[in-house]
Formats: sequence, structure tokens, C-alpha cells
Amino acid sequence: MFKVCIITVSDKGSIGERIDKSGEVIRDLMEAANYQVLEKVILPDEVDLLKEQMIKWADNQTCDLILTTGGTGFSPRDFTPEATKAVIDREVPGIPEAMRAYSLSITKKAMLSRAAAGIRKSTLIINLPGSPKAVKETLEYILPPLEHGLEIMTGKTGECAR
Ligand code: MTE
Repeated sequence: MFKVCIITVSDKGSIGERIDKSGEVIRDLMEAANYQVLEKVILPDEVDLLKEQMIKWADNQTCDLILTTGGTGFSPRDFTPEATKAVIDREVPGIPEAMRAYSLSITKKAMLSRAAAGIRKSTLIINLPGSPKAVKETLEYILPPLEHGLEIMTGKTGECAR
């Protein structure tokens, strides 16, 4: 069973002014997919705080996967991809590329997503969009191949099954 931690990136959510629907959508989908959700935090759109949390979880090997929601768009305070890129050792461009490609069939606004993904040590970090609807659409799409990637990353399999 892979372990997952969730970061909801929201200024309003972090001070209790907005209910964290997207983080709960992630929790529900991951639990239904047989992942163990260890922690969920709500942080403001502050690069240093986001980096600190990702580094702490990855370097302590707390989880195999960190999923973020929010902060991937054009707002002046959207910096989740920058925080992610600053902490990863290896970029995984295919995951956000796939999310955007699939999401474009749903809404042209998907091209506005700047989401990133990458691996720090043995933890995969993936940025998901901010809205509960977009989270559900993108996460359901990437879940099936994700498990195979995590198996390879954690050494549970050396083989790339086709
Ligand atoms: N992807 C999917 N699948 N469905 C959506 O409705 N919304 C888009 C996009 N990706 C959307 C989506 C919109 S409107 C924006 S602005 C960007 O994600 C960035 O979202 P964020 O700033 O909430 O992270």
C-alpha cells in the first residue's frame, strides 16, 4: 500500500475562510484506490512554506507520493509549480503533459495550468489543479499508470510491464 500526503495550497483555506473541498476529493479518491493517506495540510501560497513541507516529507521518507492542489494558474500568488521545481531532483514532465492533454478535451482552460511533477529522493510530487472538479478529472486519469511508476520508483519492481 503506497503512502500519500496532501497539500492544499490556498491562502483562504489556510486561515479557515474556505472549506478544503479539493483536498477531501483527493483523500476520497486515493483511499478508494487503496492508498494510505497519512497527512493533509492546508498551506498559504508561500513558496518557502511549500518547499519546507515537501522537503520534510520527502527527506524523512514519510510518504511515496505528495499531491498538491491549487496554485498552478496565473494568479499573482500562484507559485506551487515553482516551489515543486525548486525541490525535485528529477522532473517528470509526462504526468502534467498527460493531465493537460486529457483536460483539454474537457475545457480549453486546461492550457492555463502550469502544473509540474517530479521526484525528490524516493518521493513523487505531483501538482493537481485547484478546483474539486478539475482534481477529480485529472487524478482519475493519472491513477492507473501512477501505481506502476511508484512501484519502479520504490524498487518494488524493476520491470516495466507493458
Ligand atoms: N483541468 C481540468 N481537468 N478541468 C478543469 O476544469 N480548469 C483549469 C485548469 N485545469 C480545469 C483544469 C483552469 S480554469 C485553470 S485556471 C488551471 O487549471 C489552473 O488551476 P489552479 O490555479 O486552480 O491550480
